Order: sequence, then C-alpha cells, then structure tokens
Amino acid sequence: MNRLDWSSSRPRRPLHGSVRVPGDKSVSHRALMLAAIADGESRIRGFLEGEDTRATAAVLAQLGVRIETPSAGERVVHGVGLHGLRGSSQSLDCGNAGTGMRLLTGLLAGQAFDSSLIGDASLSKRPMRRVTDPLALMGARIDTRDGLPPLQVHGGQPLHGIRYELPVASAQVKSALLLAGLYGVGETEIIEPHPTRDYTERMLAAFGWPIAFEPGRAKLEGGHALRATDVNVPADFSSAAFFLVAASIVPGSELRLPAVGLNPRRTGLLHALRLMGADITIEHECASGGEPVGDLLVRHAPLHGVELPESLVPDMIDEFPALFIAASVAGGRTVIRGAAELRVKESDRIATMATGLRTLGAAIEETPDGAIIHGGQLGSGSVESHLDHRIAMSFALAGLVASGPVRIDDCSHVATSFPGFLELANGCGFALQSVS
Ligand code: S3P
Repeated sequence: MNRLDWSSSRPRRPLHGSVRVPGDKSVSHRALMLAAIADGESRIRGFLEGEDTRATAAVLAQLGVRIETPSAGERVVHGVGLHGLRGSSQSLDCGNAGTGMRLLTGLLAGQAFDSSLIGDASLSKRPMRRVTDPLALMGARIDTRDGLPPLQVHGGQPLHGIRYELPVASAQVKSALLLAGLYGVGETEIIEPHPTRDYTERMLAAFGWPIAFEPGRAKLEGGHALRATDVNVPADFSSAAFFLVAASIVPGSELRLPAVGLNPRRTGLLHALRLMGADITIEHECASGGEPVGDLLVRHAPLHGVELPESLVPDMIDEFPALFIAASVAGGRTVIRGAAELRVKESDRIATMATGLRTLGAAIEETPDGAIIHGGQLGSGSVESHLDHRIAMSFALAGLVASGPVRIDDCSHVATSFPGFLELANGCGFALQSVS
C-alpha cells in the first residue's frame, strides 16, 4: 500500500446531504465464507469492496473457490461444498483483517490439508490464542508465533464439538468455533459473557444449517450441509458512525444515512450519542435478509459528557475512536470503563486515541480499561494512525472542529473497511485533503 497522509480542516459550511456508506464488513466476510463451502451458487449484493473482505475472497479463491465479480459490490460464489476446499502451497494472506484470519482459522481447522495464515504488520501483532486454545480443545492443531500470526493450521485432525464459555465477549472467537463445529463430531455450544453480533448464527440458519441461538448462546452439531443462498449486505453501521459523530459536532449540520444495518449488537454508539444529547432518528425501519435496516437522520446538537454504561461496550466495540472525538469536544467529562478489548484491535485504540488527542490539546487520562476525557476545544496538530483505519477516520472528524488543520499520517488503511471515505466525506462538506 502507498503511504497517504490526510489533512482535515474546518468545513466552510455545515455538513449536509445523503451519505450512502459501503456494505457491512462483518456480514461480507461471513457471506463469502459460508457461500464458499455451500452447495451451489450464491449471489452477494452490497458486498464491501474493502481490502479486508477482498483479502478473504482472494484466500477462498486460493483454496479453489470460483468467485465472480459481475459488478462492484456484487459477488457470485460457486460453492464447493463442505469438503470441497483444496489446500494451497502458498501462504494465505489475510491482510489487515482480524475477522478474516480468526474465522478462517476455525474453517481451516477442520480441513484435510495444512494451511498457513499470514497478515500485515498490524494483524501480526494481534492475539490469536483466544481462537487457537479453544480450537485445540476441539482437536485442532495450530501453531502460532508465541500466540501471534503467522498461524500454521495442521489438516487432517478429527474435530469434536465442545461446550465453551468465552472468557471475553468476541464474535470472532464465537464464529471461529462455530465454523470449526461444522466439521466436528457432535455438538458445539458457545456461551458468551455478553451477547455479541450474531451474523454467523443468522447466516448459518439462512444457508440451511440447523442451529439454535439466542442472545449470548449458540449451539449446532456437525455433519449437515449448507445450501447456497443469496445475501443482501446492509450498509455498515460502523462506517455510518463517523458521520453520526461528524454531523453531531458541526453546528448547523444535517445528514441522512440510508439503509444502514441496525443489528442491536452493533448500535451501541447510537445509544451512547443519544445519552450525550445527540439528535438522531431512525426512519423507514424494516427487515432485510433477516436483519433490521433503517435510514439514520442526524442533526447537530450540543453534546455533553457521560459515564458510559459498561453494558454498551460490546455493542459499540468498533466505534470508540469516533466516540473519543465526540467526548473530547462535548461539554464536561466522559468516563469509559470496561473496554480493555480496545487495546488489542488494529492498534491499541485507547493509547492511540489518547496520544493523538493530547497532541491536539485535549485533556484525557488513559486507564487500563478505558479513559476519562474532559471535553474542550481541540487545536491543530499532526497525529499518527498506527495503520488503523478507524483511528485515521476518527481524526478526520477532529479536524472538523479543531482550531486549525489536523494532519493524519498514513491513511492508506482506511481502504480496509471504507474505500471512498474521503470522497463521500468531502461530498457532504468535509474539508479533507490527501497531502504528501
Ligand atoms: C467482528 C467482531 C469484533 C469487531 C470486529 C469485527 C466480527 O471483534 O471488533 O471489527 O466481524 O465478528 P471481536 O470479536 O474481537 O470483539
């Protein structure tokens, strides 16, 4: 990837318009994987054309799955059936994608062939034992580099189901175990400390695999088959989140975000922003492909600090960088607790946000599992994205209200989840420029 810095400045006018954000990353990864091992042809519409999801498509192609791209945002996957994947002598490169690597590890643990999974500099620092340890309990053999990628997945290991209580709320770990469970003898049951996004469960059901699930629990048994099915991917709430914060903090703004996925396990930021005084309404709510979807209408409103309820944390785990910006310009103090998971995302998001915000003059105290942020006026400065797409986009929000331009180093990773962010943002009034 080429290095690309951004400079974000105060817009000349309030933000206005309709912003159609790209397809959901979590749903796009899962749709590809399930379609790949289903019997028959599945069409995915609204597919996220991001680096992360394209990396997963490339890995599946390397494993012998034919995937066509009839148009941008569309994939036709010719499923090879549960036992139809073929091994590759080359490493499987998951790029920046934790979801890709962790879910593929579960899928590959049950294959007859060996696989080697690698990732970029950021992914190579992310903990994998949370997946490999429970997979080992199922009979898998996976080598790590001291708990980190690359992963060597040994094929030909007979798997069996387990009952597993997740120590941390993680949809990636749950999904990896469910995917391995497809290949296991007997039942796999996963119990979560807090319910997480249930796309894998819903999609397995849509592909015809018998599965019992409710918030916080999922159970399936091995030995069935997946039937090809078409998947409509909703717009990604996590991408919409940047615009919810942007319009909330720029006086006079009003933005509409059409057809955004509103799975309740994803919309914690909506509740958090409303607690802070934000003016966000949901219109035209309906069900699409078994998922709640609606238009979000957000208008500027003065925000105030809050003690964020810990129960919201798992439902907004990817939205904290944007929330940190909202809190740093809100009136009063915001306290975030119970969010230690932020330290093992694409970067240590507590540290990277605290360091960047301090550079811009914010008063912020880091704690082991969160932060205390004192709202005020942000100033000009140069911040680092640490190869983290959501950090880069969040500091673009800071530039909207800072007293001078905010320069963000190396924003090339934004394309992992949100290709076209710069153009969409500028289209509704941001003053965001690529600089070298
Ligand atoms: C994801 C789950 C979350 C989230 C990630 C996508 C998924 O990770 O942060 O961006 O698609 O399952 P964890 O499972 O590590 O919480």
